[in-house]
Amino acid sequence: MERSHVTTSTASLRDIDKANMLGAIAQLPAHLRDGFARASDARTLVERTWPRESHAGSATPRTLVVCGMGGSGVGADLLPAVFDTNAPVVAVKGYDLPAWVSDEDRVVCVSYSGNTAETLRCFEVAMQRSVVAAVITSGGKLGELARERDLPVVEIPGGLQPRAAVGLLFGALAGIAEALNVVDRDVASIIEDAASGAQLIIDSNADLDGGTEPPALMYARDLKDSTIVVCGASESVAVAHRWKAQLNENSKVPAFASSYPELDHNELVGWTRARETGGRWSLIELVPPNVDAALMARMDITRELIGDALQASLRFEPLSATRAGALFELLVLGDYISAYLALASGIDPSPVERIESLKQRLAGR
Ligand code: F6R
Repeated sequence: MERSHVTTSTASLRDIDKANMLGAIAQLPAHLRDGFARASDARTLVERTWPRESHAGSATPRTLVVCGMGGSGVGADLLPAVFDTNAPVVAVKGYDLPAWVSDEDRVVCVSYSGNTAETLRCFEVAMQRSVVAAVITSGGKLGELARERDLPVVEIPGGLQPRAAVGLLFGALAGIAEALNVVDRDVASIIEDAASGAQLIIDSNADLDGGTEPPALMYARDLKDSTIVVCGASESVAVAHRWKAQLNENSKVPAFASSYPELDHNELVGWTRARETGGRWSLIELVPPNVDAALMARMDITRELIGDALQASLRFEPLSATRAGALFELLVLGDYISAYLALASGIDPSPVERIESLKQRLAGR
C-alpha cells in the first residue's frame, strides 16, 4: 500500500454513509469478543443438547451443520477456515437440511433478523429431527420459536445490517462450536488473533480526515465501474466469498468469487474473450496464510496470461503471523474497499432495497 493521494473531498464521503457502515466495520474487533462472550453465557445449555452418554461417550457430533443465508451464513464458511475443527462443518444455504442429518449431527441456525424464510424452514426440519444445538439471532421469529422450545438462543444486539454483524455472528458461532467440542484448542486466543488482524486494517483505513486517503479508498477507485472477480485459495476462499457479497451489497456492483487452483482449469481460458463481453473486468487475489511457492507461481503466471482483459488487478497478502489474524485482515480490507467503492460512487453502502423488496414480495404470496 505505497501510494499516497492528497485528500480532496473525503469529508463529504462520510455524509453519504448515512447508516454509518464505516463505523460498524471499525467495531469488528469488539464485535468478535462480544459475540464470543455471549455464546459462553449459553455454553451449559448448548452442552446439554449434545448428551455424550446418549452418543456412546462421543465428545463431538459427527458434523456441525450451520444454516444461514447471506451475511448470516458467512460464519459457516469462515469457521473451518479459521479453526482446525474436530468434525466437518457443513454450510446449508437453502430451504432444507440434507437427508443424512440425524441424531449424530448438530445444527446451528443463524439469522440476524430471525425472520429469514430459508433459515426458519431449516430450523423447523432440524426441530423435527431433534438436532438443534442453538440459534444465533437478534430476535425475530427464530428467537421466539427457539425460546418457546427451551432451546439455547445466543442473542446478539440488533440495529445493524446483518452483514455488518459478521463479528458478532462469527464470535457467537465459534463459542457454540467450542461448547460442542467441534473446536477445542485456544479458541479464546484465536478470537483475539482475529480481532488483532482486523484492527491492523482498521487502523490504516478508518480515518477519512487524516489528510491522505486511506489505502482502501485508493483501491476502490481502481475498481470503479468494473465487474469484479475475487479469487481465494485454500482458507482465503471463504474470505473471497465474503468480498463478493460485500461488493454486491455495499457497492451494488456485480462481483463473483472464484478459487485457485481450480480456476486455472477453466476460467483461465474464459478470460480470453472477456473484453468482447463489452464490460470492464477487475481481478482481486487474496493470498492465503502460509501460501506455498507453487501456488504463488501459479498466481503470477495466471495474472500474466489474463492481464490484457483487466481494468485493475490487485493482490493482497496479509501481514499477520496467525491464520485467524491473516484471514480477518483480508476480510476487513474487503469490507472497507466495498464500502469506499460505494461512497466514491455517491452510493450509501447500507441499504439493500432489492433484498428487502424480494423478501416482502415472497411474504405476500
Ligand atoms: C443484509 C445482508 C443479507 C442478509 C440475508 C439474510 O445486510 O447481509 O445478506 O444477511 O438476507 O438475512 P438474515 O441475516 O437476517 O437472516
